[in-house]
Amino acid sequence: MFKRNLRLTKNLIVEIIKYLEKNTTHLAETKILELIKTTDLDKQNCNHWKLSPPLKHKSIQKALSLITTEDLQPIKKCISLCLSHLMWGSDDGEFYEKNSGISSDYINGNMNAELIGPSRGVFKNKQLRLGLFFLDPNIFYEDHKHAAPELYLNLSEGTKWRFNSGNWMQKKSGSIIYNKPFRSHAMIVGAAPFLSVWCWPYNSDRKCILLKNNL
Ligand SMILES: [Fe+2]
Repeated sequence: MFKRNLRLTKNLIVEIIKYLEKNTTHLAETKILELIKTTDLDKQNCNHWKLSPPLKHKSIQKALSLITTEDLQPIKKCISLCLSHLMWGSDDGEFYEKNSGISSDYINGNMNAELIGPSRGVFKNKQLRLGLFFLDPNIFYEDHKHAAPELYLNLSEGTKWRFNSGNWMQKKSGSIIYNKPFRSHAMIVGAAPFLSVWCWPYNSDRKCILLKNNL
């Protein structure tokens, strides 16, 4: 079972790498991809993690079922296979400073699982975190910023994003979003749940700073 978990997770990471190799266009994105590729995906380099299936299993399956983009099918298949073999949790505010005031919609509506990470990842990396990030429908994930550069591979349709408090823009399923350190960003999830691949390559122990801007 343990070996199977590792194999399924490794397969997913390999498919994410393949997708990013084909679709990253900016130097900063390529640099993050190169850092992901330095992670040793051997069984000697795994964290001691405890399986924790996602509480929002049905919602994540729904998000997966809505991924129709042809190029994302290998990633979709790999996520489906390892969905119950990861350590899922939710951010109850630990990514934020104490009493940040992050909304209860976010607290109750998010889930994440790390594929690579210092302690919660299936595979170990001192700094880099690569994971899956999920949000329930109709959530306004408020403007925030952080010291870590960030790469998102957006798997879902129907989510709007804004950067530096600019205009809202729709991002397509399959789009790659790069946030340089301390660039503010926010999201509004539409009627369908949001699923993404997410990466913080370094400064991944630094907290997010919430910016209380109006919708
Ligand atoms: Fe972020």
